[in-house]
Amino acid sequence: YLMGIDLGTSSVKTVIMDENGSIKGTAQQSYEMMIEKSGYAEQDPNFWWEAVVRTIKQVLNETGIHSKKINGIGFSGQMHGLVMIDQNLLPIRPAIIWSDQRSRKEAAEIYSIIGRETVKKIVMNSIFTGFQLPSLLWIKKNEPFVYEKINKVLLPKDYIRLKLTGECGTDFTDASATLAFDIQNRKWAFDLIKKVGLNPDFYPEVHESIDIAGQVTVKAAEETGLAPGTPVVYGGGDQSMQSIGNGIVKPGQVSLTIGTGGQTFSIIPEPICETEMRTHTFCHAVPGTWSIMGANLAAGLSLSWLNKKILSNLSYAEINELAKQVTPGSEGLLFLPYLSGERTPHMDDSARGTFLGLTLNHSKAHLIRSVMEGVVFALKDSVEMFHSLNIKMDTFIASGGGARSDIWLNIQANILNKEIYKVNQLEQACTGAAITAGVGIGKYDSIQSACETIIRINPEPVRPDPAVAGFYNEMYELYKSAYVQNKQLFH
Ligand code: XUL
Repeated sequence: YLMGIDLGTSSVKTVIMDENGSIKGTAQQSYEMMIEKSGYAEQDPNFWWEAVVRTIKQVLNETGIHSKKINGIGFSGQMHGLVMIDQNLLPIRPAIIWSDQRSRKEAAEIYSIIGRETVKKIVMNSIFTGFQLPSLLWIKKNEPFVYEKINKVLLPKDYIRLKLTGECGTDFTDASATLAFDIQNRKWAFDLIKKVGLNPDFYPEVHESIDIAGQVTVKAAEETGLAPGTPVVYGGGDQSMQSIGNGIVKPGQVSLTIGTGGQTFSIIPEPICETEMRTHTFCHAVPGTWSIMGANLAAGLSLSWLNKKILSNLSYAEINELAKQVTPGSEGLLFLPYLSGERTPHMDDSARGTFLGLTLNHSKAHLIRSVMEGVVFALKDSVEMFHSLNIKMDTFIASGGGARSDIWLNIQANILNKEIYKVNQLEQACTGAAITAGVGIGKYDSIQSACETIIRINPEPVRPDPAVAGFYNEMYELYKSAYVQNKQLFH
């Protein structure tokens, strides 16, 4: 058996999978974000570890699988965040996670020190708040007493690996999403790190996702119930792992994820950078490949915001039922899902969520449907950008919580005017993580061959209806102009 641990933003999930890809058990533990001030987002690595320990114990108990039968462990993790550890390998303060917006000034400062052209050439991604590099610069300026104690900086899942194995390190997919990484040459951009005034010694070794990082220590075995000596691989950032769980290992395959955030993801054989850096270019977990990604900050989060803060915590079944009662276009109601700013296509942390066109006729059912539609328009923006970059797009695979809703799948098919497929696995990120472990210990020859064995595309896609697709195509023009026309109001 293989174990995959996905350290997400709202919870950690741990699965045990057999070598044919069948999931034997899943355990999940939720945690909160700490929002000390508006725009801040932190999580305590100690809480992550406690939650991980609980899920490992639970999944071992519930499946009755003996810990010695777990042949390898891999990770998937929320990306971009800053975990700071001291000489004793303990966290110095809570981690600043990807959705944090405090480092606006630092992001601007990095551009002015490095220059936009160099950023484009080396980092290949916009300098955006919440990513590790600007967050670290913020710490240096605002919490020098913390900065002085730093021994290493890690990405979130790397802290869990450290707890299991005693070793510090990271992998190419997550390193490339710190903004301190040379994407083309797959190594830390030490010159750039020094120019920004940060200490290059903070950065740990970088490895392939499938490389073995170490073994479960005796202490970690006592805490978790795992067997000491179990091999642990590096694993990768959640988007790369999710895409492996979706079988995205060849150009032409595109995944559309509606999780907390939304992502449009494909694999590319050479790194290319969108002219305005409005998409992300990161190293992919398949060795020697890269990924291109459109990132939306509030996808499922927009719907859960509506449900928790505005409606009265309806069940997903009720939400889907209400959305179905409304005709496409939500009777003139348009939603921009920029509740926490937006990356693709605007790279604008000041953008804000908007309902446009409310009338007395609109009910909660309209709000729900228009949120679902707005989120898919945001995915369409990324698909359009992929088109402009000549990215090959043959098969679209829906994933994340949004793929569990028939009506949301139907909206995806019609707004994108594409056939939308699903795969047999629903725990894609954990599956991707378990696959990296399987390749690392030699159970599979490569990530590609593991995906061929494990991942099956469901043969029946959700198909668009030409009339509805035509209508949404016109509405998309409105959606695009709504941001352009209102942009100045957000600032
Ligand atoms: C990707 C991103 C999010 C986090 C959430 O760029 O910011 O998907 O990885 O888990």
